[in-house]
Amino acid sequence: MAKSNMNQDILKILMSEEEIKNRIQEMGDELYDRFENKNPMFVGVLNGCFIFMADLVRAAQLKSEVEFIGVSSYKNATKSSGVVQITRDLQRDISGRDIIIVEDILDSGNTLHFLKSYMETKGAASITIVTLLDKPSRREKPITPDLAGFEVPDEFVVGYGLDYCQQYRNMPYIGVLKPEVYSK
Ligand code: IMP
Ligand code: MG
Repeated sequence: MAKSNMNQDILKILMSEEEIKNRIQEMGDELYDRFENKNPMFVGVLNGCFIFMADLVRAAQLKSEVEFIGVSSYKNATKSSGVVQITRDLQRDISGRDIIIVEDILDSGNTLHFLKSYMETKGAASITIVTLLDKPSRREKPITPDLAGFEVPDEFVVGYGLDYCQQYRNMPYIGVLKPEVYSK
């Protein structure tokens, strides 16, 4: 493992860099089969999607477009406020398009529930939800991913785009923080 002063804050690793890489290639292959000849638009949910999105679009090798939407529902805490705000809106027309929403983690479902209906009102032809991680135990809204990388237990995870207080997004694996990190 590369030297890092972040590793000391990690209690355990849930998914290694290698496991993530292999799974994303499988997901890319799956998307290729589903969207070949459809010219879909990948819409990444910022900020958490940025690493997963970069790897997924390259794994899928689809003729496609890349777009982003920024939302915020967490206010530097480990629990969702339930209120989703758009912090950076879509810059392109999505009407009539096959949309692939790319999320880092599906937790309460508040974010994707909001985004799905938002994109429906914008006239998307189809909406496919792809998430790297799925935490089904905490769901509050009736949302299921169309494609999920890994199911995770009810623990707060960081790395590979996922943050705690905007930190740890750049760790190459997904792990659980030591409890003392939260109480600092
Ligand atoms: P939801 O709206 O509760 O489904 O949460 C979606 C967003 O909350 C994700 O896009 C993440 O940014 C954040 N989130 C939820 N669970 C975790 C976690 O375990 N670690 C880091 N971020 C999380
Ligand atoms: Mg996020």
